[in-house]
Amino acid sequence: MESSNPKVITCKAAVVWKEGERLKMEEIKVDPPKSNEVRIKMLFASLCHTDILCASGFPIPLFPRVLGHEGVGIIESVGENVTKLNEGDIVMALYLGECKECPNCKSGKSNICHKYPLDLSGLMLDGTSRMSINGGQVLYHSLSCSTWSEYTVINANYAIKVDPQKIPLPHSSLLCCGFTTGSGAAWREVHVEKGSSVAVLGLGAVGLGVVDGARSQGAGKIIGVDINELRRGKGEAFGMTDFINPKDCKISISDMIKDVTGGLGVDYVFECTGIPSMLNEAIEASKLGMGTIVLIGTGNGISREFNLIPLLCGRTMKGSIYGGIRVHSDLPALLHRCANKEIQLDELITHQVSFTEINQSFELLKDPHCVKVLIKF
Ligand SMILES: NC(=O)c1ccc[n+]([C@@H]2O[C@H](COP(=O)([O-])OP(=O)(O)OC[C@H]3O[C@@H](n4cnc5c(N)ncnc54)[C@H](O)[C@@H]3O)[C@@H](O)[C@H]2O)c1
Ligand SMILES: [Zn+2]
Ligand SMILES: [Zn+2]
Repeated sequence: MESSNPKVITCKAAVVWKEGERLKMEEIKVDPPKSNEVRIKMLFASLCHTDILCASGFPIPLFPRVLGHEGVGIIESVGENVTKLNEGDIVMALYLGECKECPNCKSGKSNICHKYPLDLSGLMLDGTSRMSINGGQVLYHSLSCSTWSEYTVINANYAIKVDPQKIPLPHSSLLCCGFTTGSGAAWREVHVEKGSSVAVLGLGAVGLGVVDGARSQGAGKIIGVDINELRRGKGEAFGMTDFINPKDCKISISDMIKDVTGGLGVDYVFECTGIPSMLNEAIEASKLGMGTIVLIGTGNGISREFNLIPLLCGRTMKGSIYGGIRVHSDLPALLHRCANKEIQLDELITHQVSFTEINQSFELLKDPHCVKVLIKF
């Protein structure tokens, strides 16, 4: 539907000027959406651990930049070729699309679309930015969405309409990355079988999502591992059956997991800490000859510390982005579970800040009580 001639908008955005620097609240310009794009007025956003890495220049140091890849807002205007979304629609801003026509989409085996990919260039799909500062200096986007701005532009394929009557806006924001990534990893990325055993390394939003996904798949044993004792209760709320705090034990994490599984290890290990040394623990904790390791955590330097032989011994390792969730084909089922109140997402929302206080969210995340910080515009 054609929009009513949208103009450039001047608004506030949280800008990172240099790697490792705090965010600076700046006045920026946001261009109108191009033909297949939508411009969104943000209502809520949230902080994912990956934003902290991006602020320090991961995976490519592109600055100045507007970060944020979890968020929900209201469509302010649409490009002339957008047919399925309208002004006033409430949408989640995602970092993956799904064309349903490329080889990966057609295979039904992957959520990594060739036409609407995970974009690390910091630009829109046409290679240009919709955001600028100081009279024309290009601002880089983040993962195709840049939700830490009062207004943002995304490709319409990356926007998923949600009904705020069925799913509270804060929940929709959380479902844009961390929790969905974990839940999807157990459900879509590896299809955890009924009765199987699962270990989850790291019980942040991602790991708690894995616990949820494994439970809903009918896993028999779900072992959560975290150095933060407060994550025991959180894990149990989502269906964890056993908890290991490595600080309480003298043996390695993989040996502890073997101890609670009769010496064999587990069918699936999900690495959700992003700590390089955890990769070897994940491999060793999985069953010899048949275990699967799902790599979700994003840390630097994993390759340098990687032990090949245990993996060669018949184990399978799989990487996962957004838990293998196809944003149009799979996400609606997860949203349906949320609308039915089958997932206790309120357990994740421990802190809230206003958009202008966004820097505080980085500090709050260091508090052991903090799982997710919600950002209200
Ligand atoms: N692949 C993807 O699509 C994707 C999506 C979202 C996040 N991520 C990555 O997943 C990871 C987790 O994200 P999150 O938002 O849940 O992070 P988080 O910081 O909220 O959670 C990490 C958890 O790991 C625990 N932990 C830290 N060190 C540990 C150790 N030595 N042993 C056991 N537990 C330990 C922490 O206490 C915390 O509970 C990050 O690396 C993030 O960048 C990847
Ligand atoms: Zn595709
Ligand atoms: Zn994320």
